[in-house]
Amino acid sequence: MALRVDVVTIFPDYLAPLSVSLLGKARERGLVEVVVHDLRQWAAPGAHSAVDDAPYGGGPGMLMTPGPWWAALTAVARPGARVVVPSPSGVPFTQALAADLATAEQLVFCCGRYEGIDQRVLDHWATDVVSIGDYVLAGGEVATLVVVEAVTRLLTGVVGNAESVADDSFAAGNDGLLEGPAYTRPVLFEGRGVPEVLRGGDHGAVARWRRDEALRRTAARRPDLLARLAAEGRLSDRDRAALAAEAEPPGVGD
Ligand code: 6GU
Repeated sequence: MALRVDVVTIFPDYLAPLSVSLLGKARERGLVEVVVHDLRQWAAPGAHSAVDDAPYGGGPGMLMTPGPWWAALTAVARPGARVVVPSPSGVPFTQALAADLATAEQLVFCCGRYEGIDQRVLDHWATDVVSIGDYVLAGGEVATLVVVEAVTRLLTGVVGNAESVADDSFAAGNDGLLEGPAYTRPVLFEGRGVPEVLRGGDHGAVARWRRDEALRRTAARRPDLLARLAAEGRLSDRDRAALAAEAEPPGVGD
């Protein structure tokens, strides 16, 4: 059955990218069903259907008041739904969490603005409070776009080539390493060539070269990922030798 995605926000226009490109096509093909809701439809009618209020205990900024959220989630969330609240104080959003969310029947995203949503709403409804990185956005809308894109491209049939999903950075198929460099034609471009091994037709040598490049890049850019692989015993002697050779400072031995 198609994944159902509901997004509740005070800025429905912000979610316009959900109709574009890969996800737009997946929607047209019935692989995923997306509905964006304006939170204000559940706000008390009045001059400006207020959805915010001052925080108890004082402090700067405003909070989202619980009433409209409770009514919205009562109307939108079906039994068993994953209710996802993007927040800089959430758990890190990872490829593993994306894969887990992709198994759900319904995802409901609650886009907070201001200083966040009254905790009582989160205590009752939220199944997942997630952060997309260590920086602060103005609200949950862009984070929701990130999570929806990461999740929906894992659904069967959304990405044409299933292998390209398995090979991505962080995917199990790449053994948790970053993807290394890739080249296409022409063989000489702006005076720059293509590594000889990629043109030699030796598939074993290509695979080894790709793993070495992935190891080198991961060591340089994400030492945290490499340390985790090492701790899990997932680096071979050959891997360690490749990394040690790379780590040797220029000039040693000459
Ligand atoms: Cl999920 N929301 C907001 N507002 N800021 C963030 C974030 C989420 N993740 C990182 N920064």
